Amino acid sequence: MRRSVAEAARSVLLAADPSAKVKAARAAARDWRCGRLDRRFDVAMPDQPARPERPELLSPARMPKRGRAGSERGRIATLHALAHIEFAAIDLAFDLIGRFGDAFPTAFVDDWMRVGAEEAMHFALLARRLRALGTGYGDLPAHGGLWEAAEATTQDAAARLAVVPMVLEARGLDVTPATIAHFCRAGDERSAALLTRILADEVRHVAAGVRWFRFCCDAERFDAADRWRVLVGLHFRGAIKPPFNDSARGAAGLTTEFYSPLAVS
Ligand SMILES: [Fe+2]
Ligand SMILES: [Fe+2]
Repeated sequence: MRRSVAEAARSVLLAADPSAKVKAARAAARDWRCGRLDRRFDVAMPDQPARPERPELLSPARMPKRGRAGSERGRIATLHALAHIEFAAIDLAFDLIGRFGDAFPTAFVDDWMRVGAEEAMHFALLARRLRALGTGYGDLPAHGGLWEAAEATTQDAAARLAVVPMVLEARGLDVTPATIAHFCRAGDERSAALLTRILADEVRHVAAGVRWFRFCCDAERFDAADRWRVLVGLHFRGAIKPPFNDSARGAAGLTTEFYSPLAVS
């Protein structure tokens, strides 16, 4: 029997080694695109994705300071933190497919397979950039809490979409332009170009989140913006903080009516 979508997603989550995870993500997306996976959701997703031995995972409070803003050490720390976020994003995309895909039309799997393959590419590009700067993914400690949002929302696809793409990935849209400017000022055009490319992709990831969140709300006759605020209040412990990149958020369909009533300054 052919491999199922769920088996392919699970194989990504269970790959610990970074290059094995990237390979599994690309293979799953390619096999899906070429019609080589059956649309079956016959195996469960693991509670936790497999992780490599390095980086060491620390709570945010224990993370070392990143070094002076414009210094090479500071830039490497930023690139390492971003690589770690992209690594977690691979797992988040495939968990969404394997855990919730059965409740959605096939286009949901299409969208998140594409997102998952892009996250794998983002991770691989950042890891390569770190190597060009004489270091690599795993050489610094990393944030240990990135799976928490997933754990808080294993029961509810709409809650997962509300928190992961529509809060966390949207936050990436807000902060990335300043990071790009920062790399430009330091004369690191290569890293700036890489982050510019990633930002363009991330707008589409947020858009996919909004699209499928609206699908969930329409099915239950909820107003999407009201429902989003309820779910964020229930499942997200952080604050929704400005400054917002309203134009990038708007391009993704995440309009101010969603988040401005929640914004704390
Ligand atoms: Fe990404
Ligand atoms: Fe993303």
